Amino acid sequence: MTERGSFASKIGIILATAGSAVGLGNIWRFPVETGTNGGAAFIIIYLACVLILGIPMMTAEFIIGRRTHTNIATAYKQLAPGEPWFLTGYAGMLCVTLILSYYSVVAGWTLKYAMSSALTEMSAVSDTAAFFNDFASSTWAPMCYSVVFLVITHLIIERGIERGIESFSKVLMPILLVIMIVLVAGALSMPGAKTGVEFLLKPDFGKITGDVVLSALGQAFFSLSLAIGCLSTYASYFKNDVNLGQTAASVVGLDTSVAILSGFIIFPAVFSVAGASPDAGPGLVFITLPNIFNNVFSGMPALGYVFSLLFYVLLVLAALTSTISMHEEVTAFVHERYQVNRLRAASVMTVISIVLSVLCCLSFGPLKDFTPFFGMGFFDFFNYVTAKFIMPISGIILCLFVGWRLKRQVVVEELTNRGSLHIPAWVCSLFIFFLRWMAPIAIGLIFVNELGIWK
Ligand code: TRP
Repeated sequence: MTERGSFASKIGIILATAGSAVGLGNIWRFPVETGTNGGAAFIIIYLACVLILGIPMMTAEFIIGRRTHTNIATAYKQLAPGEPWFLTGYAGMLCVTLILSYYSVVAGWTLKYAMSSALTEMSAVSDTAAFFNDFASSTWAPMCYSVVFLVITHLIIERGIERGIESFSKVLMPILLVIMIVLVAGALSMPGAKTGVEFLLKPDFGKITGDVVLSALGQAFFSLSLAIGCLSTYASYFKNDVNLGQTAASVVGLDTSVAILSGFIIFPAVFSVAGASPDAGPGLVFITLPNIFNNVFSGMPALGYVFSLLFYVLLVLAALTSTISMHEEVTAFVHERYQVNRLRAASVMTVISIVLSVLCCLSFGPLKDFTPFFGMGFFDFFNYVTAKFIMPISGIILCLFVGWRLKRQVVVEELTNRGSLHIPAWVCSLFIFFLRWMAPIAIGLIFVNELGIWK
């Protein structure tokens, strides 16, 4: 009854899916994690996680979506009728809604920083910490920016799969890659670049602890948009001749390259300024970097202007292709389940996320002391409950579902496009073995660690 769209081209599929993966997770969270976990050694573990765990799990999520060509909740219902697996689909949608709500707050900050850079307000700031704190804790401004961000997301979603998500990703992703390359070149020519590069390339294996391994695993998960139905929803728009394993490998490759390139922008810059530390934590991108842009380029303000503007525009674009993917997951469900048109379905999701996002914004300002959730406000609680509970549990269920519940024949048919691709039987067996045992155990370990049981 509902007309289902699909992505028109293979390059569109890769760019849209990579757009979902590449986001604040790569450019903001990855450097923060790398900085606080000791640099190169963390990166090596991270690479192992995305390659060994990320590619098979992403392929598993694609299988669910592409097999059924429907939204995540209906997909589980079709694959396992009458069984409770579909509840994971609902948990995924709840999770993605909560993530979108706090993510759009940070996305709003990036928009503010891009605007302030464009208007040269940024280069005049002397105390970047005070600038950030005043802005984030005010009542209206952060709220307006995140609402604007959600409305832009809405407008793209409303246009549908091919004309909205695909055509925007095909424009935004190449721009993003070009901006990154320009910024890497700029950062490498900064005075302290060499120390920054060493920090990224020379591993100090003494720094690898259990905690570092598990942080890398958690980061891999978030960065790849794994486990909560976002990628299944995109895969439901893939045509039947798309090679799922190869697409997953390309998306993981792009996502990882962007994360590493962000490291090559941020750390050379950080080491260019005396006193700036790589483990500045979440303020790295909003407090440390603007300070660096102003100091390093104090003799060449025009260059500082361009650098800062490009960097924050980069963050805005990366965040936008991710918010689109989160929004689409729920829009697709409402559209198909309740048979309302896409515009209405998208509006439902937009209204819900605006309300929740406003609450998250306020938790830095007027609602700062409103911390009813185990001592946390809305922003922290949404972040905590999604990253530490829903995502790991859904990840385990995803692996168990594809590994044990789906018939081997279904999995092989999807991996090989019903026999038209030549994928050796041992690769299929290894894939299933991985989902049955390795992946659930690895994720189980992150989960236990994040609960703090063995700290
Ligand atoms: N992966 C994105 C990033 O790195 C964020 C994101 C988009 C996400 N969709 C998701 C995270 C689904 C978890 C689940 O910024």
